[in-house]
Amino acid sequence: MKKPIIIDCDTGTDDAIALICAHLCKEIDVIGITTVSGNVELDYTSENTLNLVDEIGWNIDVVKGKAKPLSRDLITASHIHGRTGLGDVVLKRSTRGFYDEEVASYIYKKAKEYNGEMSMLTLGPMTNIANAILRYPDIKDFIKEIVFMGGSLKGGNVTSVAEFNIYVDPEAANIALESGIPLTMVGLDVTEKVIMTETDRDYFKEFNNPHANITAKILDFMFKRSERFGREGALMHDGLALASMVLPELLKKEKHYARVETEGKITTGMVVVDKRRFAKDKKNVDIALDVDVNMFKSWMRDLICY
Ligand code: BDR
Ligand code: CA
Repeated sequence: MKKPIIIDCDTGTDDAIALICAHLCKEIDVIGITTVSGNVELDYTSENTLNLVDEIGWNIDVVKGKAKPLSRDLITASHIHGRTGLGDVVLKRSTRGFYDEEVASYIYKKAKEYNGEMSMLTLGPMTNIANAILRYPDIKDFIKEIVFMGGSLKGGNVTSVAEFNIYVDPEAANIALESGIPLTMVGLDVTEKVIMTETDRDYFKEFNNPHANITAKILDFMFKRSERFGREGALMHDGLALASMVLPELLKKEKHYARVETEGKITTGMVVVDKRRFAKDKKNVDIALDVDVNMFKSWMRDLICY
């Protein structure tokens, strides 16, 4: 049976590649896509998502989510992803509209409809799922698991200790961590190990299909960006989180009790793991610590290069 999932994203260069893979992935049934502010503002992340799914011929609900974190001002990463979020990649403007429902209610309704079998994959700040948990506390009995791209135990990418998705809305991440829903954290500890090369990009270029074309264009932009910034190569953060849902051997994980710092002067957004003995009954999240990079790359190639 295919895994029913909602993908929540802030499209975004690497989010876009994750969506391209999700569309082609036979093991999952994407029920709908919800958008959130993060890499860039909500209007851009939402339009990028709609334009992208149209361009690859994917007829799927796209629900516009929250424009602001739960209780903070929005911080974006437009210096990394470009003003629109997709760098210099321009997609044809979609002519259809968003699925017209408030995001928390959409997630809750779908979770109930699928009777506990639905999973969530969050690829941006966790604002939408946190809103759903706050508004509908019994949702915890209807979501099978949340796999989230975010966090890091090894140090951050936006501050010395915080990863971007968690940093933007740390309160939302804590609500998810405290929810009782089974969680998997796919953070920088593994995603920064998956670096696409120009050889990888050239392989996609040989295949003339919409999925491969857009992937190659996005990778091109990522290489230009790396030259400019001297860091953040072509990392597949969000694609890796997706892949982990269908490749059980891809990641090595350890279960821990983790919370997110929300009040630190220099540590806000840091994922703090409590390994003391007394915390062993509180373990709330499987944390990915290592990855089989070749397995990921060949999975991505096999999907996109049809
Ligand atoms: C995460 O932040 C965004 O820039 C990426 O899309 C990814 O979800 C990595 O820290
Ligand atoms: Ca993202």
